[in-house]
Amino acid sequence: MTITSKQPNTGTTIFTVMSKLAADCNALNLSQGFPNFDCSPKLTDLVHHYLKKGMNQYAPMTGIQPLREIIAQKVSDLYGVNYHPEREVTVTTGATEALYAAISAVVHQGDEVILLEPNYDSYAPAIVLNGGTPVYVTLTPENEYRIDWQVVKSKITERTKLIILNTPHNPTGTVLTENDLNQLADIVRDTNILLIGDEVYEHIIFDGRQHWSLLRNETLRERSFICGSFGKTFHITGWKVGYCLAPKELSDELRKVHQWLTFSTMTPVQYALADFLKEPDHYLSIPAFYQAKRDKFLACIKDSRFSYTHAHGSFFQCVNYQQITEENDYDLAIRLTHEIGVASIPVSVFYHQKNDYKILRFCFAKDDETLEKAGERLSKL
Ligand SMILES: Cc1ncc(COP(=O)(O)O)c(C=O)c1O
Repeated sequence: MTITSKQPNTGTTIFTVMSKLAADCNALNLSQGFPNFDCSPKLTDLVHHYLKKGMNQYAPMTGIQPLREIIAQKVSDLYGVNYHPEREVTVTTGATEALYAAISAVVHQGDEVILLEPNYDSYAPAIVLNGGTPVYVTLTPENEYRIDWQVVKSKITERTKLIILNTPHNPTGTVLTENDLNQLADIVRDTNILLIGDEVYEHIIFDGRQHWSLLRNETLRERSFICGSFGKTFHITGWKVGYCLAPKELSDELRKVHQWLTFSTMTPVQYALADFLKEPDHYLSIPAFYQAKRDKFLACIKDSRFSYTHAHGSFFQCVNYQQITEENDYDLAIRLTHEIGVASIPVSVFYHQKNDYKILRFCFAKDDETLEKAGERLSKL
């Protein structure tokens, strides 16, 4: 039998590769983006409660009503923007599903989608599987990954269907500003270009910065799918619960895909999250919590030969290793896992042509002991 692969160039993601290597080498795993500490016991108690209560059958396709309502309430409280819980909020199986459903819902054969690289690895395959073409705008560390909106504008053609933005940003830890949103609005106003805001690190933002969600700008909001994830906010990446906010016409299209993709998301977990979200402190405390983690990690590598700019958001810190070695970042990430037992992600994997700027990404969503041990080993290089 011959199978013609629809994704001939897709291998195993770097996150799986590095996590497996870390396990094989018994290394400290600062590669894949997940916490090595547990979520709130209140949350597991709530899931337990709803499991025992028999909430074990299919949830409604769009998500249970109490969860959609509290998500809409939270967005209204934080940003003063109203989404209709029935028509404009959809619970998904992680942000990955929300992203895939949003892309599939709107990308037709021959459409172009602008990606700002380095970028999260699920976007391009979803675009290509739907017959679209990724068009890249390359951001570089020399420029602190700032977006030149004139370059973005220059990439727009009559085939441009969508632009995907991610803030706070994985892997660079940068965040969009109000000025970025205004410039983007000037570009897309009077066009049919749609937007995806990948905002899974919404609450992981530091030094008093505000999260400039695309939904805070009316011109952007009316054409945006905003994708969120409880996995990142509440230390439950393994539960895969996310959501998508979008105006009704966009939500209708997203739901048509979501219906055939997963149909619905785990019921008891949705009820538990709906209750947990009633306490705003559960997410309002997250920026300080992760800022302390970032500062701890940076304190642990302060005597190392890495250079860096503090991450502004996300739970990733990028470091430049040019003063240590000339090796390419992929080889170095593999070697450090084997030799000093610290796993990281080479940032070249987030570029479609694997640009090597000698940067490694470390995930600091780890307990202090792990960060200290990693810092000790990295400081000896
Ligand atoms: C930028 C970005 N978007 C989306 C996701 C996926 O989120 P989820 O685990 O909710 O599917 C991740 C996970 O690492 C991410 O970093």
